[in-house]
Amino acid sequence: MPTAIDVFEKVRGHERAEQLRMAREADLLPYFRVLESAAGPVVEMEGAERVMLGSNNYLGLTADPRVMQGARDALERYGTGLTGSRFLNGTIDLHLQLEAELADWMGTEEAIVFTTGHQANVGSLGTILGPGDTVIADSGDHASILDGCLLSRAKLRPFRHGRLDKLEKMLERAGEDGGGVLVVVDGVFSMEGDVADLPRIVELCKAHGARLMVDEAHGAGVLGARGAGASELLGVERDVDLRMGTFSKSLASCGGFIAGTHEVVDYLRVSSRAFMFTAAAVPAAVGAALAALRIIRSEEGPQLFGRVLENAAYLSAGLADRGFHVIEDEHTTTIVPVVVGDDWKAVLLWRALYDAGVYVNVALHPAVPPAGALLRTSVMATHDRETLDRALGAFAEVKRRFEAEHGPLPA
Ligand SMILES: Cc1ncc(COP(=O)(O)O)c(C=O)c1O
Repeated sequence: MPTAIDVFEKVRGHERAEQLRMAREADLLPYFRVLESAAGPVVEMEGAERVMLGSNNYLGLTADPRVMQGARDALERYGTGLTGSRFLNGTIDLHLQLEAELADWMGTEEAIVFTTGHQANVGSLGTILGPGDTVIADSGDHASILDGCLLSRAKLRPFRHGRLDKLEKMLERAGEDGGGVLVVVDGVFSMEGDVADLPRIVELCKAHGARLMVDEAHGAGVLGARGAGASELLGVERDVDLRMGTFSKSLASCGGFIAGTHEVVDYLRVSSRAFMFTAAAVPAAVGAALAALRIIRSEEGPQLFGRVLENAAYLSAGLADRGFHVIEDEHTTTIVPVVVGDDWKAVLLWRALYDAGVYVNVALHPAVPPAGALLRTSVMATHDRETLDRALGAFAEVKRRFEAEHGPLPA
């Protein structure tokens, strides 16, 4: 008998469909906007110039001539693609050099390069963890961490974002689960921009015999004297068992890595399906990441980290002075989140800023807790003060008009 249920039914009646339709009709959709230039401090987007406060190009290296040359050289030498996985026919010497230099940078025995950061998380968590294990994750962790945990079929014990008392409870419970235990946290949380309390997390993991993995996507290339991330900033590098990073932010490219001991990394090389059964990162992406890493590790690196963090502090203070509710953390990061709360208000505010020549990201549930809509702004080392002032002026003017029409925004 043919089945009565169309498997595509869910694409018609899903919970976001009506919201999406209304947003599209009113041209209010803050996603899939089309860039017509490089992702610099100021971009061409849909026919107009806009200050870019919604990019992860933290050090501004995507347009650096040395990074572009790195991509060009790799392209010239190896062609456009590798048409196979690292495992079979997709490993080139640039992958190996990049892995060696990443491991040296992270201070670990080895590193393994994946085609994307998402795959690095899925391909490591989905391989290291098994059905008998327990994984404990912060509820603010990136979606790719959750995907890796789910894929592994380990017992998932999430805890409320930043609540280390809850983490401790989960560690106590995990002790009874009967398998190995891994704690996974973002070093810098991607939406709120706050830094995990890694020293306390390390202490708790040690007390309970758990392993610790830190996702350094937003900390690598920004935090710590070497720019090695939140683990370096907080002095716990030796206590973190696995560190994940991506090339899609400070490293100005596309790809990801896991850094750790020889035995773990070697196991991933021959067991991680997201590594073995997908095409290797294209040569240009690897060449660009390698060139960016070399800049980060040169004398210029700390100047870039300093500049981007100064810009973040400037933007954060400027927005707070203009009456916005900015989430502040003890540690400055590249991410400056502005709390709006209501989804529609966030979208309307986004559109008003867009029309005023400023592009920001909108974070709605499930990227943030329900009724916790944010404008996620972020800066680059290459933003100058004049450009940031231009954006702040637009924020102030938009706020005045917005509140007159829609009522007060969170202060
Ligand atoms: C914290 C975090 N981890 C992992 C990823 C995935 O990295 P990629 O975009 O390189 O796949 C991201 C990127 O959005 C991220 O923000």
